[in-house]
Amino acid sequence: MVRAIDEHTITDAVIDQMSGTKNERLKEIMDAAVRHLHAFAREVNLTPDEWIQGIRFLTATGHACTEYRQEFILLSDTLGLSSLVNSLNDRRTIEDSTKSSLLGPFYRQDSPTFELGQSVAEGCPGEEIGVYGRVIGANRRAVANASIEVWQPDENGFYDLQKQDPSEMELRGRFFSDQEGRYFFRTIKPRGYKIPMDGPVGDMVRAQGRHGWRPAHIHFLVGAPGYREAITALYMADDEHIDSDTVFGANESLITEPKLNAPESPFGSLPAIHFDFTLAAAQDAHSGRVGADPAQLVKKAEEGH
Ligand code: BEZ
Ligand code: FE
Repeated sequence: MVRAIDEHTITDAVIDQMSGTKNERLKEIMDAAVRHLHAFAREVNLTPDEWIQGIRFLTATGHACTEYRQEFILLSDTLGLSSLVNSLNDRRTIEDSTKSSLLGPFYRQDSPTFELGQSVAEGCPGEEIGVYGRVIGANRRAVANASIEVWQPDENGFYDLQKQDPSEMELRGRFFSDQEGRYFFRTIKPRGYKIPMDGPVGDMVRAQGRHGWRPAHIHFLVGAPGYREAITALYMADDEHIDSDTVFGANESLITEPKLNAPESPFGSLPAIHFDFTLAAAQDAHSGRVGADPAQLVKKAEEGH
């Protein structure tokens, strides 16, 4: 007998048809996705016009993606999904560690390596600051030779990826902690900036009456063998949008400010941010990155992964 498909039976019909999914986790995810998607359509009583508008929006989001731009990640960020996935992932370790914050769409692999104390902002106008601290394990022991990747926008709030020639790297680099786990480098004080507003996600944010700003921050990706990678950012306490981040990344424990003449600062009278990164021990090098270098995503898609 042909099953009657109506608004009451459609959800079970789809879940029945997907029940042969061999991969258990894929099955769990898709069952829940269909149930929630159907519940959403029922709750708002979705009309055909609204449905096609949604399809157009998602199509435009895909079309906006290139090797230098990831509009889908931006969508996930502005809907709070990336931040939620970060929080869920932070819960997976029992050891205390530095809270995660968004990787964002401007991370790039293969940034240049600098010596401790060098500046990632050579030739960039702005107010010079130092950043220093230690990389430690949950037991407070030093993590020597940890890799510390940093990236940030220029004093006008633009990342190198948003410039005329996005292949040129600027204001990003990698350092390695010393034997006591110490790291220190110079940069310019970051400025707050608007997320890219010239695509479909910007249209959405404007339609919602949101301001689109992120509070000023410096991104960090810190890793060492035997530890879970920390993907985080340090936020500037004096930023006017510190409490209303458009992508929900600014967490209280990550708010800092440059201070003058701190006794332990290697920078003396230069204003400097002090922050220690705590890494959780991990068996495998699994990173839990919520995001990727956009160029790597394009490459993987082309390779069919
Ligand atoms: C960022 O901090 O680089 C960022 C994160 C999410 C959306 C846009 C930018
Ligand atoms: Fe950023």
